[in-house]
Amino acid sequence: MITDTGPADQAAQEPAASPGDELLLDVRDLRTYFKTDDGIVKAVDGVSFSLERGKTLGIVGESGCGKSVTMLSILGLNPKPGSIDLEEGASRPDAMIRALRETSKFTSLSTGEAYFGSEDLLSVSRSRLREIRGGEIAMIFQDPMTSLNPVIKIGDQLIEAVLLHNDVSKKEARARAVEALADVGIPRAERRIDDYPHQFSGGMRQRVMIAMALINDPQLLIADEPTTALDVTTQAQILSLMRKLQEDHGTAIVMITHDLGVVAEVADEVVVMYAARAAERAPVNSIYEQPMHPYTWGLLGSLPRLETDVERLMQIPGQPPSLLRPPPGCRFSPRCSYAFDRCRRELPELEPTTFDPTHSQACFLDEETKLGEARRIVRAFAVDEGAA
Ligand SMILES: Nc1ncnc2c1ncn2[C@@H]1O[C@H](COP(=O)(O)OP(=O)(O)OP(=O)(O)O)[C@@H](O)[C@H]1O
Ligand SMILES: [Mg+2]
Repeated sequence: MITDTGPADQAAQEPAASPGDELLLDVRDLRTYFKTDDGIVKAVDGVSFSLERGKTLGIVGESGCGKSVTMLSILGLNPKPGSIDLEEGASRPDAMIRALRETSKFTSLSTGEAYFGSEDLLSVSRSRLREIRGGEIAMIFQDPMTSLNPVIKIGDQLIEAVLLHNDVSKKEARARAVEALADVGIPRAERRIDDYPHQFSGGMRQRVMIAMALINDPQLLIADEPTTALDVTTQAQILSLMRKLQEDHGTAIVMITHDLGVVAEVADEVVVMYAARAAERAPVNSIYEQPMHPYTWGLLGSLPRLETDVERLMQIPGQPPSLLRPPPGCRFSPRCSYAFDRCRRELPELEPTTFDPTHSQACFLDEETKLGEARRIVRAFAVDEGAA
């Protein structure tokens, strides 16, 4: 709910703080596989991250690396999802592949843990998950038309979202909808509420989607590329709107984007994904000041504002691998100019660096070399930033 509530209401809404309850989302070893005509797609293959209340996590990586599927899996929104019971000690990937091959009952399978507070979203009932979706957790989908129905008035869609999760009258729901629209900066909200989505510009539709996502005052907002289709000015407005709403309501945000510039603006922490796995995970400043994975160097190096020689050095050659048959060893190794034998044989796990336990990376290159390279790249990046 985006309405301003009085002090009494606020007290009733705020859960009593207890020590150690800052962690809102804790995802451990998430895997999601799909059965397709071409074989099993390992779309997410062992990803872990967490998010504190009121904070923002950025998930970045090239197209197809598993960003959307990671979050859709947590919300149980993959097509025809199934579940399996694992025997003690069994290999999870093998069991998942076997289960998908043997059944026609489901075409997607997610395993691992995804704690939202004390509930594991991967094992709660479908009905509980439906309750959580649009209530405690809201999502802005990558495809705007997934969220907005083109033939239903904007107001009616907002009102329905309120009524679905709250025991209030239609009149009250309408009042909340008007306020929600006003909150996201739609002028003359009480009139515009009766418009259809096509009567709004792209930027305004994006605002409506944010209003829709926030109307039930979720604890967690998942925003999948919410500004990608917008011009830079509108993008900046939407990002600052999201920041303001986050400050006002204490909402935690998972921001999915391929744009490291957006991440720098909004995120507290970053997960860099490559080919269905996390390559690096760190507080946002560390990603820019001390990036520790060759793939992150590549991403930083290919930011458009880098126009120096470093850009040529840093452009990532080749394409991400197929998730049907990922290469052996480190999945980035075929594109990595630093790769050596071990990288082509063994799959690196995400490990904390020796200098910062909150900064993890999955790369066999020795830390000394990586720190040296990081310094070189950051220097070039900083020079360019200064020149911009
Ligand atoms: N329903 C599905 N069935 C089969 N494969 C899928 C399905 N959904 C996604 N995939 C595959 O899973 C992988 C990860 O997809 P995902 O949509 O998460 O990528 P992404 O990182 O969000 O990319 P983008 O930046 O383009 O949105 C891709 O290889 C994609 O083709
Ligand atoms: Mg996506």
